[in-house]
Amino acid sequence: MEDSKKIINTGLRGVTVASTRISHVDGEAGKLIYRGFPIFDLSDKTSYEEIVHLLLYESLPTEQQLINLNKRLTDQRKVPEKLIAALKTQPEDALPMDILQAAVPMLAAGDSNAAELTIDNSQRIAESLIAKIATIVAAWHRIRNNLDPIAPDPSLNHAANFLYMMTGQKPDETMARFFDTCLVLHAEHSFNASTFSARQIASTRAHMYAAVAGAVGSLSGELHGGANTRVMQMLQKINSVDAIDDYIRQVLETGGKLMGLGHAVYKTGDPRARILAPMSKKLGELSGNTKWYDMSIALEEKGKKAFKEKKGIDIYPNVDFYSASLYHYMGIPMDLFTPVFAVSRIAGWTAHVIEEQFGGADAKPVLYRPASDYVGDYCGPAECEFVPMEKR
Ligand code: ACO
Repeated sequence: MEDSKKIINTGLRGVTVASTRISHVDGEAGKLIYRGFPIFDLSDKTSYEEIVHLLLYESLPTEQQLINLNKRLTDQRKVPEKLIAALKTQPEDALPMDILQAAVPMLAAGDSNAAELTIDNSQRIAESLIAKIATIVAAWHRIRNNLDPIAPDPSLNHAANFLYMMTGQKPDETMARFFDTCLVLHAEHSFNASTFSARQIASTRAHMYAAVAGAVGSLSGELHGGANTRVMQMLQKINSVDAIDDYIRQVLETGGKLMGLGHAVYKTGDPRARILAPMSKKLGELSGNTKWYDMSIALEEKGKKAFKEKKGIDIYPNVDFYSASLYHYMGIPMDLFTPVFAVSRIAGWTAHVIEEQFGGADAKPVLYRPASDYVGDYCGPAECEFVPMEKR
């Protein structure tokens, strides 16, 4: 490979690997755009179902299109009994992201047309996955607590139905609207780690389910979607505004991480955090306990200051920072924060898989296949001499 093309150990930061029409993250301006529309408008004015239409079908839906999509999604919420039976065989303390990752190929196994690579079929599977992943996450939560899964309620929208299937309680209007906004905000984010995983798998012409299962695994890591759970654990560990300074000092001294702060692309702030913060404040106030919101605000301020002083870098809250306290106020268990991320991001993943399958072939070679720099210097510059088993 020519030296000019050699980009080593950068984690592909700044390297453009494909073109996309789905979304744009402007890291310097702190902007996020889904198919042309800024996230501030979308989060304020649309529902998750409208975002699903926008991402999968490239336009905001008309009233009739939305009615049709809602019907298709609600009709597909139920998951096969065999899958529920399989979930019941799993250990109660299994990580919910592992359960979700294992469940996706089970959906493929129950779909006799999983492997047909046509746009209609991929859109069908996308809608089915969007409808069912919420059901699986809620069902697993019930099963691990020795409770029966709750059947989806077709009178509720995607957001309210998820909270209902998880808790058995229909959320009030504020809670339902805020959770819907969370789903809108988490639905898509360009070539992040999990989306890139999905696209890379799709580029092999593996089916949609295989790509999504890989994306779920990628999202589970604490440097990606797993950060929201780790933010809440961190807040609980610190436990008071007064203890924040010590915690930050210790993190900086030991080379640890302040979870929920910093971003690989946003360098002047993540717009989603700005939308989530007031929702966390509001739910804190409504619950009569603003402790977690107050700590988050203080941690943001103090963390920013300490990083600037000690490392000379600006770090800002990312999407996971305020979603942690917000989900906590919503009564979502901490270890479901990342699966809840997947409940939303499935819309973006599936849109990207479809673009990879049917829209990207003229823009890049069919298969992702990066090069690597071999540094396996086992026998000096020479190749190693093979040693038979009996002489090793
Ligand atoms: N805590 C401690 N150190 C940090 C943090 C943080 N929150 N954020 C950045 N840094 C460090 C980086 O490790 C890097 O240090 P180095 O130069 O010694 O390697 C330096 O600050 C500069 O980092 P950036 O180039 O700005 O960001 P990078 O791309 O390296 O890291 C990342 C981005 C992984 C998200 C980082 O900010 C981080 O670990 N944050 C905490 C985990 C987190 O919140 N992840 C969720 C991200 S959003 C999402 O995936 C949905």
